[in-house]
Amino acid sequence: MTTIQDLLAKFQRRFSSRAAVYHAPGRVNLVGEHTDYNDGFVLPAAIGFLCSVAIAPRNDRKLVLYSESFDSSMEADLDALPRKAAGHWSDYPLGVATSLEKSGYRLSGANLYITSDVPLGVGLSSSAAFEVAVGYALLDTAHHPIDRTRLAQMCQRAENEFVGAHVGIMDPFISCHGRAEHALLLDCRSLEFQFVPLPAKVKLVICNTMVKHQHAAGEYNTRRAECEEGVRLIGKALPGISALRDVTLVQLEQHRGLLPDAIYRRCRHVITENDRVQKVATALENGKIGELAPLFAASHQSMRDDYEISCPELDIMVALAAGKTGVYGARMTGGGFGGCTINLVATERSMEFQQQVAAEYYSATGLRPDIYVCAASQGAENVAGDNSSTD
Ligand code: GLA
Repeated sequence: MTTIQDLLAKFQRRFSSRAAVYHAPGRVNLVGEHTDYNDGFVLPAAIGFLCSVAIAPRNDRKLVLYSESFDSSMEADLDALPRKAAGHWSDYPLGVATSLEKSGYRLSGANLYITSDVPLGVGLSSSAAFEVAVGYALLDTAHHPIDRTRLAQMCQRAENEFVGAHVGIMDPFISCHGRAEHALLLDCRSLEFQFVPLPAKVKLVICNTMVKHQHAAGEYNTRRAECEEGVRLIGKALPGISALRDVTLVQLEQHRGLLPDAIYRRCRHVITENDRVQKVATALENGKIGELAPLFAASHQSMRDDYEISCPELDIMVALAAGKTGVYGARMTGGGFGGCTINLVATERSMEFQQQVAAEYYSATGLRPDIYVCAASQGAENVAGDNSSTD
């Protein structure tokens, strides 16, 4: 991982000036999958993988961006920002700059050096970390006060309108608001949130199946459209509803006849998953971690059978983990179709867990998994220099 000193030195070499540095983390979601865009509940935690941005203001309206991860640079004019994505890494920073400017935040030109250690395309929210780090850096550099919830909304807007992924608010929200040693229970309708303490004796162990979620964006948008169709159809009987958040399981069963089977199952996943989020949060608050495993298992099963976003490798990884001593819960995490599982594992068992699961997963699939032993970490921060107070 690049240290702050390294990053400042690299910035100095490339742009011949001092810089301020901003960090934004990736995330893992404990439970509450595909509930955010249904006005539901989620329970993510920020993790120690970071996107880091070194930035210094310029005297013009140009953004000069360098991505270390892609070893590629590009320039853009804030007065002539592109209207939509080009399928390039710069879509994320330019998407955020565009949504900030469109929402009335006038930015100043800047030089940016960007680096990230959030694994790409495996459901740990590398794009939200990228967007939040750049958005925070640009706002601060232009002397705008940082409203973290607003910043998260701007990043979501960039994904929705610029990149074309109809994602919910969860990823940028946790990247902005994360807190060390805590998960965050978010009501995605009101955006009210509370921190839920994670037990000190448990690690967040993330197992990467090494299956990239290719074509997931199309499937993701389809799932979202299916949920909207569910609301439209159930709304014929219950006109007051505006999202699946408003429908109970009893109501869903009562009006099942209005729904094609696939839409019914999509709705059932979202409604039961919202309930599991509440139960997991309550169990954590009461220190009852023994209650988590069946909730995690039910969540995984619901994603596999009702929402149909799992894949054989994710199912194998979960099955291997679930039976091991010291495991308090195992399920796939993130958007699905590949990526990672989240496992709550007793700290003293986490090394052994890592070794056993890696060996067993390799013999079952021929793939060598990356396994990350993580702890919940802080959200976006200004970690060196301070552009907000300089002119
Ligand atoms: C992706 C999206 C989130 C959320 C999850 C699934 O990470 O960016 O908004 O919908 O998938 O829970």
